[in-house]
Amino acid sequence: MGWLEGYSVVVTGAGSGLGLAIVERFITEGARVVAFDRSEEKLKTLKVRLGSDVEIVVGDVRSSRDNAEAVRVAVTTFGKLDTFIGNAGLWDFGGSLPDTDAEKLDSGFDELFGVNVKGYLLGAKAAHPALRASGGSIIFTLSNAAFYPGGGGPLYVASKHAGVGLVKQLAYELAPDVRVNAVAPGGMNTDLRGPASLGLADTPIGEAVPIDDFMEQSLCLHYAAKAEDYTGSFVLLAAKDQSRTVTGAVFDVSSLGVPARPTESLGIPSALAKD
Ligand SMILES: NC(=O)c1ccc[n+]([C@@H]2O[C@H](COP(=O)([O-])OP(=O)(O)OC[C@H]3O[C@@H](n4cnc5c(N)ncnc54)[C@H](O)[C@@H]3O)[C@@H](O)[C@H]2O)c1
Repeated sequence: MGWLEGYSVVVTGAGSGLGLAIVERFITEGARVVAFDRSEEKLKTLKVRLGSDVEIVVGDVRSSRDNAEAVRVAVTTFGKLDTFIGNAGLWDFGGSLPDTDAEKLDSGFDELFGVNVKGYLLGAKAAHPALRASGGSIIFTLSNAAFYPGGGGPLYVASKHAGVGLVKQLAYELAPDVRVNAVAPGGMNTDLRGPASLGLADTPIGEAVPIDDFMEQSLCLHYAAKAEDYTGSFVLLAAKDQSRTVTGAVFDVSSLGVPARPTESLGIPSALAKD
């Protein structure tokens, strides 16, 4: 018997990387999942593989209507909603303030914060009534960049720090009915992209940065984590009888993820450099 037997769950950014690993792990634990992503192609592949344990919703987390649709599908198909996982995100590929053109900084901020922060806020707004009814919880994916500098540039690091604020404020506002927590993983070799407005939509993190080597060499556990390695914390936080007292918490599972000098050690895509 799994820890999430009979649970109904929405996962955003479920098409690849950590979101996909969470969907697979939650199904193994007994849940049924609405997988929400903007990539129809990824979702169709996922549906073929996972069958009736998963429903798919194609949409953009920056849209209130699309978030409401994902919640509606969970409630109508599975009868309730127990867990909403805000996970869709963009990275800024470590572009620093001095090296980023002012106009790109402006549009990149709007796009990246739109997904990483507004997307979580609108997801919580759409999900909280159904979660109140079930005594459920919200979990956000944050990052080592929610605690430490250097896991990105100022856009990404500020967006993940903003996520900590969302967790604390929403945990406070939605108590006692809905718990709100987050998991902060470190680097993983996924399909993570950047804002189109920064010219970073076409290259996944793993192609731009030797992320596995970097993790192995620089983090204290000398281990290059896979997305699956982080899913246990999501299961623990979702499971009502395992984490009854946990709200407003951010689990830092990034192995003290403090990169040394990211702009030099990771290499920054030329798209961010000033012309
Ligand atoms: N990969 C890393 O090194 C790393 C490290 C720490 C934290 N994270 C965080 O993990 C989370 C998942 O990222 P990942 O690494 O699995 O990347 P990923 O790109 O493999 O998965 C993210 C998914 O989100 C979807 N998405 C992006 N924008 C969207 C939007 N506007 N609306 C709907 N869907 C959208 C993408 O299509 C993609 O399928 C993000 O919040 C990211 O910040 C990643």
